Amino acid sequence: MLLAGKKVVVVGGSSGIGLATAELAKAEGADVIVASRNVDRLDAIAAKLNAIAIPADVTSDESVGDLFRRCGPVDHVVVTAAQLRTGPFKTVAMEDVRATMESKFWGAWRVARSADIRPGGSLTLVSGFLSIRPRPNSAIVSAANGAIESLARSLALELAPVRVNAVSPGIIDTPIRAAMPEEARRDMLALAAAGLPVGRVGTGEDIARQILAFMTIGFATGSIVYIDGGALIT
Ligand SMILES: NC(=O)c1ccc[n+]([C@@H]2O[C@H](COP(=O)([O-])OP(=O)(O)OC[C@H]3O[C@@H](n4cnc5c(N)ncnc54)[C@H](OP(=O)(O)O)[C@@H]3O)[C@@H](O)[C@H]2O)c1
Repeated sequence: MLLAGKKVVVVGGSSGIGLATAELAKAEGADVIVASRNVDRLDAIAAKLNAIAIPADVTSDESVGDLFRRCGPVDHVVVTAAQLRTGPFKTVAMEDVRATMESKFWGAWRVARSADIRPGGSLTLVSGFLSIRPRPNSAIVSAANGAIESLARSLALELAPVRVNAVSPGIIDTPIRAAMPEEARRDMLALAAAGLPVGRVGTGEDIARQILAFMTIGFATGSIVYIDGGALIT
C-alpha cells in the first residue's frame, strides 16, 4: 500500500474531489483526517471511512490554526475546500468576489501557513481549468485559480523540502452544483461531456488519482497538472 503509516489531511474532505481523495488515501493505508464546516456531514463521512473528523473553516485564521494544532506533524495535506460566488464582471457584488477569494485563495494560503508537513511530504492545491480557459461571468474564479497555481509554484521553492503541487480540474460531476435545478445540471453536464474528446465529464476519483500521484511521486514539486478530459485543446 502506497501510503501505509502516512498521515493525510484533506481539507474539504466531506464531499466531491476531497471525499474521493480521502477514500483513495484510506484504501492506500493512510491515516486520514477530514476537515470541513458542516459537522454532521463531516462526522458521517469520517465514520464511513474510519477517518478522523476535525471541523474547520478555511475562511478563519483561528479555525485553520486550531485544525493543524490538533493534527500535529503530518505527511500530506490536500486543500479542496472552496465555495465560489461569481457573476457578470461589471455587476457582481464585491462581497461575493471577496468571499470567493477568501475561501478559495486565502483558504489555501492559511492551510499552507499552518500545516506542519514533514520533509518530503506534500501539499496539493486544487485550482481549475478556468485559469487558462476563461468563460464569461467567472472572472473571479479564473483569477483565484490562476493565483492558486502561482502560489503552488512559489511555495514549492519556499517550503522545500516539502513538495507543493496543484491539480487543475476540468468539469467534474460533484455536489458543487447541488444548488442547480437537477434537470439543468444534467443538461449542462451532458452538453459539456459531448464537447470533450473523452465524451464524458470527470469524476472526483479522476482528480483524486492525480492528487495521490502528487503524494507518492517524490520527484513531483512545482507541477501544475490539468486533468480536464481535453477541455484545454477543444
Ligand atoms: N467540480 C468541478 O467541476 C470543479 C472544477 C474545477 C475546479 N474545482 C475545484 O475543486 C475543488 C473541490 O470542488 P468539489 O467539486 O469537490 O466541491 P464540493 O463537492 O462542493 O466540496 C467542497 C468541500 O469543501 C468544503 N468547504 C467549502 N467551504 C469550506 C470552508 N470555508 N471551510 C472548510 N471547508 C469548506 C465543503 O464542506 P462544507 O460545506 O461542509 O464546509 C466540501 O467538503 C474546489 O476548489 C473547486 O473550485 C471543481
